[in-house]
Amino acid sequence: MGVDMGHIFLTGMMGCGKSSVGKSLAYKLDLPFIDLDARIEERQKKAINDIFAESGETFFREIESAELKNAARHEPDSVISCGGGIVLSEQNVRIMRETGNVIWVYRDIDSIIDTVDIQKRPLLKEGAERVRKIFEERRERYEGSCHFKINNDDTIDRAAERIISVLK
Ligand code: S3P
Repeated sequence: MGVDMGHIFLTGMMGCGKSSVGKSLAYKLDLPFIDLDARIEERQKKAINDIFAESGETFFREIESAELKNAARHEPDSVISCGGGIVLSEQNVRIMRETGNVIWVYRDIDSIIDTVDIQKRPLLKEGAERVRKIFEERRERYEGSCHFKINNDDTIDRAAERIISVLK
């Protein structure tokens, strides 16, 4: 990998393992790790669930885009784990592609439904069928916006290694 490789953005459905894979990847590459959802929660001093409940999804998407832009433009090269809906905005996709590599972390939707912590994710609370529908609606966006798709169907460590090998 070159010196000016830019950021590594991780996209994909909620519960696909972006944060765990991202931390492992950042450690292996000795890069800072940024979790955009965590940044939003710090800045708003509220859980994502409460932001959705009190201010609605549109407001959440606005601050999510602002946080992405801020990190992409002002942070040194980092591994950036994004919320699952980041690809919904064309502008977000453009910023990610201009400032780094976009990796779609793919995990089978049934494994996600079986294992994810539903309570922390407002959209998942609406049930398994809704999650499947969201995935079908977004699939093309994940596919079309990424430079590489990586399977997270084994260990976190292997998924991180896969990312490193495609970026070499
Ligand atoms: C969302 C995913 C969540 C969080 C919010 C909305 C989505 O992030 O940003 O609940 O629309 O897919 P994770 O993908 O990190 O769970």
